[in-house]
Formats: sequence, C-alpha cells, structure tokens
Amino acid sequence: MFRNVTFGTDSILACYREIENVRAFFLYLSRSAWLRRFMEQSSLSQKLTRRFVAGMTLDEELEVCKKLYAEHVLSTLDHLGENVSTIEEACNSVEGYMASLDRIAELKLPLTVSIKLTQFGLDFSKETCLANVARLVERAQEIGSRVEIDMESTAYTDRTLDIVRELNRRAPECVRAVIQAYLFRSESDIESLNSQGIRVRLCKGAYKEPASVAYEAKADVDANYVKLMKLLFDKGVDPAIASHDEKIVRQALAYTKERGIGPERFEFQMLYGIRRDLQREITAGGHRLRLYVPYGDAWYPYFMRRLAERPANVLFLLRNMIKS
Ligand code: FDA
Repeated sequence: MFRNVTFGTDSILACYREIENVRAFFLYLSRSAWLRRFMEQSSLSQKLTRRFVAGMTLDEELEVCKKLYAEHVLSTLDHLGENVSTIEEACNSVEGYMASLDRIAELKLPLTVSIKLTQFGLDFSKETCLANVARLVERAQEIGSRVEIDMESTAYTDRTLDIVRELNRRAPECVRAVIQAYLFRSESDIESLNSQGIRVRLCKGAYKEPASVAYEAKADVDANYVKLMKLLFDKGVDPAIASHDEKIVRQALAYTKERGIGPERFEFQMLYGIRRDLQREITAGGHRLRLYVPYGDAWYPYFMRRLAERPANVLFLLRNMIKS
C-alpha cells in the first residue's frame, strides 16, 4: 500500500516535471530567431494563428473589435511585435500604433492599445523609447483612450516601471502598468503604483524566470495572485484582473461583492480566443470585460507563449488544421 502511495506521488512529480519541461521548451522556441523567420513567412501562418490572432491587418483587427463591442466586450489592440533592433523599426511601431489610435478615434469606441516597450527601442535606448511612447500617450489623451504597457521579462521590469511612472506624470489616467504575480517583487511594486494612482493590470506572468526572483510552483503563483488582487481591489485604481483561471475569477467576484465594490470599479481582461465560455459568463453577469486582441504578421513569440501556457493547444491546432 505504501509503495503505491510513493509511486503515486512520484508519478505526479514526474508528470509535473514533464509539463514544466514542455513549457520551458516552448518558451525556448519562442526566442528562436530562425524558427520565427521560417514560421512567420510560412503560407500556413494564417491558418495556424487564427485562434489567437485577430488578423494580419488593422482593418481585420477592427472588424473583430467592432463585433466584440456589439457583444458588450471591450478590446485592447495589440499590434504584434517586440525586441526591435533599429531606430527605424521603432519609428515604424509608433506610426503603426498612431494609425490604430486614429481609427479608434474615428470609430468613437472605448478601446485602448497595448504595447511592449521593446517594440519602441527599449533594448537600445530608454530615452528614445520614452520619447516614442510619449507620442502615443499624448494622442491617447487627446482622444480619451489609454496605453496599456505590457510587462516583459525581468530584464526590463525596472525600466518599464520607470517609463510608466514618467508617462503617468505627464498624462495622468492615460497609462496602465502590468504586474506579474509570479515575481517576488510584485507586492511592493503594486503598493507603489497604488500610492501613485496608476492603474494596474494583474497577470500571472508568461516568461521563463529564475527561482531567485519568481515563484515556480503554480499553487504559489495562484496564491500570490489572489493576495495581490485583493490589494488592488482595496487600494488600487480601476484594476484589471487578467486571467482565464476560473477559480480566480470566482474569487474576484466573491471579494468585490463582499466589499461592496461595484462592477464600474474594475474590469476583467482575457486574451482573444481563450475561454470564450467564461468570457460570456462574465459579460452576462454585468461585468466589464476587455479582450487583448493581437494582430499583425510578427505573431511568432506571442503565439509560442500561448502554446507554452497550454501545450494541449498544439493538438487542438493540429486537429483544426487537418479539419479545415
Ligand atoms: P492559468 O495559466 O493557470 O490558466 C487557467 C486556465 O485558463 C487554464 O486551465 C486554461 O483553461 C485557460 N488557459 C490559460 N492559458 C491558455 C492558453 N494559452 N490557451 C488555452 N487556454 C488557456 N503576461 C506577461 O508576462 N505580461 C503581460 O503584459 C501580459 N499581459 C496579459 C494580458 C491579458 C489580458 C491576459 C489575459 C494575460 C496577459 N499575460 C501577460 C499572460 C499571463 O501572464 C498568463 O501567462 C496567461 O494569462 C495564463 O495565465 P492564467 O491567468 O490564464 O492562468
């Protein structure tokens, strides 16, 4: 009998290690430049990505956002791209997002944009990056929109938060920071952002981080998420609860009800194409939901992170490709 118990525990541990290996494998592939070139130029790319990516062009993206809005779902537009290596590429990113903001103004819809700072030159100059993003934030302020600044790996956390704070100083209310619950530092980052009145999107975290800076076990990440979420509900400004984890969504609903926090004081956020059942449940309950809707041809790293989060997606995608 004891042998069985030991065997059971060992199997669970082995299984857990396998899952972690698969996750690490996809995150490793997400950084491969040659595979990225090959995949993004492949004729299969649209077929492969359509579950997670709204389209290759801004027009396709906006069609999706309009449809979602008709179903009472808001969007934040993500023009896919990260880690640009020249000033010219960074300027192209600015022009691309300026076009998105112009179209948002034309449509008069309450949409926001989401950006990654490495798309705007953070890898080679913090000052250039700040100047680039400041143009977007200024335009967002003019049209009553907002720029949500994604959080990338810990190599960028301090610089990202410095830029968020500076942008918020120049245009209060027009930026949102992202905090990752898997990092040990996040509680103190949230306390500081709360005290400055800066909006936060809370997510679990999508990068491979060392054990010296981040929780490794899912249970620890989830527990920290709930703790930080409560901190945001109690002291934050219009927090965004970004998760597809049903248990977390239910705890958010229970906590806000218990504290008398109305649905106008926070929003749920999810990624386009994931947990549509839960998305419908949230909007049916009268809660604000914003989807992160990516578009563009630089889809590879984003797509690989989605596979890393749920390796079963590979089978799902293969099945769909064979069917269509
Ligand atoms: P968890 O991974 O525990 O999943 C819970 C359940 O959700 C799963 O059981 C499954 O049903 C479903 N699910 C989750 N991921 C799925 C997938 N890829 N495919 C299919 N089903 C899936 N990260 C980051 O580091 N920086 C950032 O700026 C952002 N920004 C961001 C914005 C928004 C709106 C969201 C929703 C998420 C992010 N993330 C992010 C990603 C985030 O850190 C995290 O990797 C994913 O959201 C997955 O974590 P969950 O909270 O969904 O929980």
